[in-house]
Amino acid sequence: MVKTNFPLQIPGVDVEAVELFSDRATLSEQLEQFANLYDQRPFDNTGGIRFDSAFAYCYFLKRITPDVVIESGFWRGFSTWLIDSILPNAELYCLDPVLMMPLNLSTCYRSPRAGYSTQDFSCANFELDPSVQTCAIFDDHQNVAPRIEQSLRYGIQHVLLDDNQYEDTYHTSITHLLKRNDPILPELFSWIDEYYLFPALIPPVMEGCPLEPLWDEMPTRLKHLDREEHFAYSWVTYLRLKPEFIC
Ligand SMILES: C[S@@+](CC[C@H](N)C(=O)[O-])C[C@H]1O[C@@H](n2cnc3c(N)ncnc32)[C@H](O)[C@@H]1O
Repeated sequence: MVKTNFPLQIPGVDVEAVELFSDRATLSEQLEQFANLYDQRPFDNTGGIRFDSAFAYCYFLKRITPDVVIESGFWRGFSTWLIDSILPNAELYCLDPVLMMPLNLSTCYRSPRAGYSTQDFSCANFELDPSVQTCAIFDDHQNVAPRIEQSLRYGIQHVLLDDNQYEDTYHTSITHLLKRNDPILPELFSWIDEYYLFPALIPPVMEGCPLEPLWDEMPTRLKHLDREEHFAYSWVTYLRLKPEFIC
């Protein structure tokens, strides 16, 4: 049985529909609190998540409250700043093989408490304590099915995906697998307990997204944020992997 807020239809996979955002008062309060944090951002992000996906990260990370976070794909470090701010006590590891090359990334954020590496997640040889909650965050534009297998091998139960997108790109997302009814889906979803896609905050809804936006128009608290600059829906998705498949 997969708990989900997404209309999943996969042969042989039972689903239980979950409504994540029925408590509107709490959601509005969470948005207000997050807007206060966002106002303290170290820079306006480029090449990564914007306000809407950052709010989605915050929503899921506060729900999971992991002890350990592994971030695969950190670029200028905006998402690292976010993780650092939301989970000040979590152990943090940041991976990005591309950054072994000298690049001019403009302003960056690097966490003083994170372990940085240019290894790929697949060969980073994490030795994780199975009794602690670990979350892997993938914003590395790599195919997702191997990432999930690798997470299971490390004993990771919580996975946050950015760019679980419908439109074609150079990595294969779960949404792509669903779009083409890929034969791997029954096996892939047999490893998954919960599958939650974070909806758009405001219209428009992206092609292929089955969820309505959370607000019909820009909430008053966010009116100072330019829509083009601060909003870019990126299909943030949380997966809870089944304990019985965890090594
Ligand atoms: C969209 S950027 C990440 C942005 C960052 N998470 C943010 O929101 O601020 C994608 C990153 O994936 C990195 N990347 C590419 N291949 C990777 C790999 N195999 N493992 C980890 N990161 C990878 C790129 O170098 C780039 O930094």
